[in-house]
Amino acid sequence: MAGRYLLHFAQEHISFRWPEFLAVTSRNSCEFKLISDLSHVKLRPFIIVQLEDDKQEERLIKSASECYLLKDLYELWASSTVSLQDLSNKASMSPHYLSKKYSGIDQSFRINCETFGVTTKQSKKIEMIKEMKFLEGFQCRPNLSNPKQIYCILEMNEKTDTSDSAMKKEFYFGRHLATSDRKAVHKFSLKERVFIANTSMDPLLSLVTANTASIRKNDITYDPFVGSGSLIVAAAYMGAYVIGADIDWMLLHGKSRSSRKGVKKRQPGESIRANLKQYELESRYLDVLVSDISRRPFGDNFKVDSIITDPPYGIRECSEKIGKKQSDRIALTTEGKVRYPSKVDYTLEDLLSDLLHLAARHLNLNGRLIYYLPVTISEKRDFTEFIPSHPCLRFLSFSEQALTLRNYRLMVAMTKVREPEEGDTVMIPPALTESNFRESYFKEYGEHKQGHQECSENLNKMSL
Ligand SMILES: C[S@@+](CC[C@H](N)C(=O)[O-])C[C@H]1O[C@@H](n2cnc3c(N)ncnc32)[C@H](O)[C@@H]1O
Repeated sequence: MAGRYLLHFAQEHISFRWPEFLAVTSRNSCEFKLISDLSHVKLRPFIIVQLEDDKQEERLIKSASECYLLKDLYELWASSTVSLQDLSNKASMSPHYLSKKYSGIDQSFRINCETFGVTTKQSKKIEMIKEMKFLEGFQCRPNLSNPKQIYCILEMNEKTDTSDSAMKKEFYFGRHLATSDRKAVHKFSLKERVFIANTSMDPLLSLVTANTASIRKNDITYDPFVGSGSLIVAAAYMGAYVIGADIDWMLLHGKSRSSRKGVKKRQPGESIRANLKQYELESRYLDVLVSDISRRPFGDNFKVDSIITDPPYGIRECSEKIGKKQSDRIALTTEGKVRYPSKVDYTLEDLLSDLLHLAARHLNLNGRLIYYLPVTISEKRDFTEFIPSHPCLRFLSFSEQALTLRNYRLMVAMTKVREPEEGDTVMIPPALTESNFRESYFKEYGEHKQGHQECSENLNKMSL
């Protein structure tokens, strides 16, 4: 019988976890069966999978070590919904225990204990560890600092529907196999990064985005709204050669205002290339160019393996494009002189249409497009109603991140399934065109600010 494995996910960016895990396992050709209920994937930290054949274990270990929203991977020995004693009995009958592979004087071990849904004191954890009586049959030494095997008791607590205080418990016992690459996130901290902009994406989400694009070593990854390059830094870390474009000449040349608090002027040499150099990834840098994506800067032969991007929403940076015709531009009169600004507003519909056409043209077959999409949701709507489509691109997944109560951004994953043909059109769903994200975002933000003000005024009155 092929073994079962326990995935311990981090409880953050919850809806991003599974698309990331699926993309990474697919990159490593790891095939598995989901044993936990599909609904648990979006809620719980502990998920059980089964491998179709034991040879896949190495691929699963590699995948787990490459994720950012996963914490650890365990070989699952037993699970119980009854008690720790039942867990110990079941573990004593598991083939892993009976094989005696990890028993004997040349072995050493440590047991960790993690609980979810309740706070557990260290003394209680020690009691829980003592309940694992079956381990007494192992003739091996405990070693807390450098053990050969790490075992873990994991306890899941969930409120029951029937009573307010009662908790439904689930216990797991497993042997530790892999820890994810989460520690790398700190290395990319924006605080220490040479070049940042107002909308630099945080390191964790950048790495998750690049992972969801299933980037392989020596791929070419392109960000058409590159900004300060956070996404391509993550792609380069995964071994891709990177290229970016942005309409903002001043930003790409490090001449715009500094985005650091209290700092007026940028340091000489601030650039995306300098960021890659900072992380010893300069060899992965192809180029960045000043360009407006609506002007199709590349010919048809320009092909990339993935496109990862965070387009402008018009919240902290304006979304604009070069006005093609003078009639597109709104005439402004300053001191009696009429002038036509070179840039015009870029609507979300036009921007998405350009982005999806660009992906259809420039992605290699099976290449992925991962992009962020702002949405304003009402009770009647489902997130899937907001996703634009293109006949060359198959929708894979979306992950939602709440910005305010009604305003979200979705990370959308698509893959290219065929080459473009004449007449291919982008379908922008009415839900997206009907909602005005920018207006709604500022309105809700304003309501909250006002709420805070009222609240602090009330507090002031009370203290009088
Ligand atoms: C949300 S920011 C990207 C942030 C980026 N991911 C980072 O980490 O810094 C969007 C970028 O799109 C650029 N942009 C706006 N309109 C554009 C256009 N028409 N063509 C290309 N870039 C554009 C803006 O200058 C801005 O830098």
